[in-house]
Amino acid sequence: MAIGEIHVKNISKSFPVNGKNTTVLDDISLELHPKEITVILGKSGCGKTTLLRIIGGLEKADAGQIEYEGDSRMAFVFQEPRLMPWLSVYDNIKFSGKKIGITDNEIRNLINIVGLRGFDNSYPNQLSGGMQHRVSIARAMAYKPSFIMMDEPFAALDYFTREQMQNELREMQHKQHMSILFVTHSIDEALLLGNNIVLIENGRIKKSFNIPESDSVRDLMNPSMIAIKQQILEQFKNTITFSKEEKNVKENNFDNACSEPCRKPFCWLRK
Ligand SMILES: Nc1ncnc2c1ncn2[C@@H]1O[C@H](COP(=O)(O)OP(=O)(O)O)[C@@H](O)[C@H]1O
Ligand SMILES: [Mg+2]
Repeated sequence: MAIGEIHVKNISKSFPVNGKNTTVLDDISLELHPKEITVILGKSGCGKTTLLRIIGGLEKADAGQIEYEGDSRMAFVFQEPRLMPWLSVYDNIKFSGKKIGITDNEIRNLINIVGLRGFDNSYPNQLSGGMQHRVSIARAMAYKPSFIMMDEPFAALDYFTREQMQNELREMQHKQHMSILFVTHSIDEALLLGNNIVLIENGRIKKSFNIPESDSVRDLMNPSMIAIKQQILEQFKNTITFSKEEKNVKENNFDNACSEPCRKPFCWLRK
């Protein structure tokens, strides 16, 4: 895989909403290191996808620059695997690697790397959701990109498959030295995967965390992981918005929590 650093410099972006320009990204600067997973973490709507699209060259910024050192070939992995249903596993991967002249050996090797040995001739509708995601990762790798851009790729998977995919991705990244930009709103996912975690809020970088590298699968119950999780939660704490009922319960003002019993989660506390 080609090696290249990406320098993101002072990126700003606004979108017109109801005739008014709304700033989504406000002077974002960060470094993406090769052979690492950089995670962009933030709430829905905070601008993660917009930033990934700008870094990946799919969208233009209003201001700032993206500087690619070496090769700037990007591959994308989205929430849905987006495989070609009429092509087999082998041919989906081959299609992606065609431009760079991928060989038969390389395709078979990729199929092995993503744990799909023996499924070369299967079609997407014959595979489970997790397996289809593995093909989409192999397809991205087939293009030999300098970076793989992943936008909440496992968000639609069930809990167990998602956890398995996270562990597998980490293992693959370790062995293949992939360079990945990974977007998520899940703190646990960020902690499981990231070498660097960049928190975005209100269009700005709130804080970045470096997670010390270890060979083994990460354990979120490890005290050092819990400490980082606490720090991340602390960053978001002051900006979590509460409804009127939630505020009343938080302030022990139960009488005003709700006038009638209802199904809102915080009202359940009153029963
Ligand atoms: N093409 C667009 N036109 C107008 N508004 C957009 C467009 N793309 C994104 N937005 C707005 O920018 C904000 C950030 O979107 P997005 O980057 O998708 O957030 P995230 O991925 O963090 O959920 C949202 O308010 C969204 O509605
Ligand atoms: Mg998004």
